[in-house]
Amino acid sequence: MPPGKAPGLDLGRAMASPFTGIDPASVEDIGPVVRGKVRDVVDLGDHLALIATDRLSAFDRVLGTVPYRGQVLNQLSAWWFDRIADLVPTHMVVTPDPNVMIARRCRPLPVEVVVRSRLTGSTGTSLWTLYAAGARHVYGIRFPDGLRKNDPLPQPIITPTTKGASGAHDRPITESDIVEGGLVADGTWEEVRSVALAVFERGRQAAGEAGLALVDTKYEFGLDPDGGVVIIDEVHTPDSSRFWRSATVEKRRAAGAEPENLDKELVRLAYAAQGFTGDGDPPPLGSDLAARAARAYLEVFEALTRRPLAPAPYPAAPRVVAAVCAYHRP
Ligand SMILES: Nc1ncnc2c1ncn2[C@@H]1O[C@H](COP(=O)(O)OP(=O)(O)OP(=O)(O)O)[C@@H](O)[C@H]1O
Ligand SMILES: [Mg+2]
Repeated sequence: MPPGKAPGLDLGRAMASPFTGIDPASVEDIGPVVRGKVRDVVDLGDHLALIATDRLSAFDRVLGTVPYRGQVLNQLSAWWFDRIADLVPTHMVVTPDPNVMIARRCRPLPVEVVVRSRLTGSTGTSLWTLYAAGARHVYGIRFPDGLRKNDPLPQPIITPTTKGASGAHDRPITESDIVEGGLVADGTWEEVRSVALAVFERGRQAAGEAGLALVDTKYEFGLDPDGGVVIIDEVHTPDSSRFWRSATVEKRRAAGAEPENLDKELVRLAYAAQGFTGDGDPPPLGSDLAARAARAYLEVFEALTRRPLAPAPYPAAPRVVAAVCAYHRP
């Protein structure tokens, strides 16, 4: 079954009533809401209700909505959390609705742990962007001359960034800056880096079996009340990761063509092709591009989980609010 053709899935209908988020007033008696770029987060005290909306952010802005996106991100994260729980404690408690994850609240480490297996990317902190601008010593790692875009690296590397406050740009940082600057304690960082590489390896393996290349990804970690390292946020979604269709990667690379991107990069590249350079206000997300992004996200979900998405109905906000309230006050 081609992606996006699962029974009950209706991109047009979902686009007609996109899930842009919840009204904070609808949960005001259970907790305050913090609105991230993608998630509405309800503070339940020891726990958080992470509500994945259909908002798509790129260039540090919300560009528009992509149908089924929130459901795909949340359920794919849940699928991965189950598959890495032997490697590291995860923040996931339960998913009471396809768009909602109840998570243990942790103290987030102030770095984003990016793992990369190829010289690629188009954002300001991407390896290829920095390399193409002439940098040969980035993230504390030395790169030889003569590499081309999308070349594989000898082994996966960690290229951390600072986790900017809402609206701030993330900056590249070296691992020694993280430890020497006191952002993360030395022993904790050692644990984080080895867990990140192990989770990435697990991800590459599972993706490979699904005909996908997991090219790079971003993890967030936090500390639980006892100081233990926990993986938080989301894992190996097409938002936090680059996925390429494996079958065509090498042929296209040899021909100097871009791989088939099945993630947010396809949106960034489409904007670049329309002449948007990243400066000033990006134009809103058009419906054709939103539908293309939806199909790519669904393809990744279906390839990995080997099942079609069981689509949850739109409008989404009423069922999402009901699920969060029922969890909080059963
Ligand atoms: N278990 C957790 N404990 C504490 N914070 C968490 C946990 N899991 C995720 N978070 C935080 O919740 C937020 C999720 O919201 P969202 O994904 O919309 O943020 P974002 O798009 O990454 O942007 P920003 O963080 O700048 O708002 C993130 O800030 C993430 O760090
Ligand atoms: Mg996020």
